[in-house]
Amino acid sequence: MKPHVVKIDPHNIDREALKKAAELINNRGLVAFPTETVYGLGASALDPRAAAKIFEAKKRPLDDPLIVHIAGLKSLDDLTDEVPQGVVKLMERFWPGPLTIIFKKSKKVPPIVTTGLDTVAVRMPSGEIARRLIMAAGVPIAAPSANLFGRPSPTKAGHVLTDLDGRIDMLLDGGDTEIGVESTVVHPDGEGLLVLRPGGVTVEELESIVPEVRVAGGEELEKSPGKYPQHYSPRARVIVVEDGPGQVDNALRTASETAAQSKNIGILAKHEHADAYKGMNVKVLGPSGDSRICASRLFYILREFDAEGVDVIIAEGISEKGLGLAVMNRLRKAAG
Ligand code: TXA
Ligand code: MG
Repeated sequence: MKPHVVKIDPHNIDREALKKAAELINNRGLVAFPTETVYGLGASALDPRAAAKIFEAKKRPLDDPLIVHIAGLKSLDDLTDEVPQGVVKLMERFWPGPLTIIFKKSKKVPPIVTTGLDTVAVRMPSGEIARRLIMAAGVPIAAPSANLFGRPSPTKAGHVLTDLDGRIDMLLDGGDTEIGVESTVVHPDGEGLLVLRPGGVTVEELESIVPEVRVAGGEELEKSPGKYPQHYSPRARVIVVEDGPGQVDNALRTASETAAQSKNIGILAKHEHADAYKGMNVKVLGPSGDSRICASRLFYILREFDAEGVDVIIAEGISEKGLGLAVMNRLRKAAG
């Protein structure tokens, strides 16, 4: 069925549309909506049959757990019986916002939401449409990114339709999302924090209030759920050319080597380097010194290259400072 698509102004939210979306959530429907990070595909988090529909619509494997979204701290009581002392200051500082925290799960959370784990991932989004939808529905909303499994997350309503047209009930079109990469997922670990997925809250920001922050790597990530080696992928093959001296020369060499096997090459370049690829299909990620801009454009550009039928994307890596860590994490995953 065609989804009911409604344009919504986050500064002047249409009450009728919100009411309709909330009713759908309460009747086991699927509603795609913008958050400050990316678009989410929402269903009631306390209804296992509703949550099951998310996996079906996204073609998501049943071992990749969902994030549960809340609008107020009271709802956390439904999801967990244990809020560790150290986590309180995290919530105070970063909620609402792009931080997902892993808690011990309560009995109320259906096993399908957490794919059988004894923990649940919770986040309080700051995006106004998301907040108002959760409040109107009156239940926590389980919402992964609103893309088909493995594809780049949607930062525009059109991206959601490209992937999920005919598979969802409603789409709230609130324009482009602000941050453009997903939330940071953290696992509290004694006094410290283990970052399972870098995202909208930077490691530097976390370090400013938590004594010990570690970014999970290697085996730790293999053990962590939903960590598929290839993810966020456009149809095109992605080759990352690492940041550093000689980057442009390396990218040009990679391009000419690739040209032997593939006609349609796209270059994803830093603003400062764009001119070096004259005559080629080059798109600018952003100024290398501004990781916020780079993050906000990444998924959008990967999808644009796809729409143009590009076979190989040669992507310049950027510095891993700030949101650059999340950008490079997604680029490396896209490269598989
Ligand atoms: O910004 C975001 O987080 C977006 C918006 C819609 O809120 N959502 C999102 O959800 O990115 P999704 O499903 O694409 O990513 C959820 C990831 C899982 O793949 C898994 O890595 C992690 O969150 N996760 C969920 N539950 C977990 C748990 N109990 N333990 C560890 N990791 C978990
Ligand atoms: Mg996702």
